[in-house]
Amino acid sequence: MSSEEETSQTSSSSPPSSSSPPPASHFIGKKEDIVKAGRMTKLVNGCRDVLVLYHQGQFHAMDMRCYHSGGALQYGDIEEFNGRQCIVCPWHKYKITLAEGEGLYQAVDNPTAKPLRTHWRSKGVKQRIHKVTEVNGDVYVTLNDSSEAIDSDVYQTEKYRTTQGPAKI
Ligand code: FES
Repeated sequence: MSSEEETSQTSSSSPPSSSSPPPASHFIGKKEDIVKAGRMTKLVNGCRDVLVLYHQGQFHAMDMRCYHSGGALQYGDIEEFNGRQCIVCPWHKYKITLAEGEGLYQAVDNPTAKPLRTHWRSKGVKQRIHKVTEVNGDVYVTLNDSSEAIDSDVYQTEKYRTTQGPAKI
């Protein structure tokens, strides 16, 4: 990886090829501004409200509204659960991994056992994750346009943009 280009999403990264932004990527902002703020939201390509996060030296990008009920993830805390960095939705505290968009939950082995024994489990990918690329201090997002439906897609319509507000921080 060159010193000029960093790709933060291990699950969707592609080898850096030049100091130009990837084709079909969209400029989000200056690296220094996002690092300073820790997060930024943007309407990307006129169709997708995206949250870009900078956490522990890495950029992450995901759909801005929570897959559960459209909660404002840009106001969520970032915490570690079961060794994985997650954003915690401020509405009902669902946990979503930053790198994969998986919903995590605590499962109980036997609800009648005392004390209760719980384990972290995954619901699978629930939040659409996008690829972030940094080139010469500029940060770009390439939308994940996989045709496979992901739960957070439901909240990427004009209806939710109007009722819950567009990307603005
Ligand atoms: S809307 Fe996010 S947990 Fe309910």
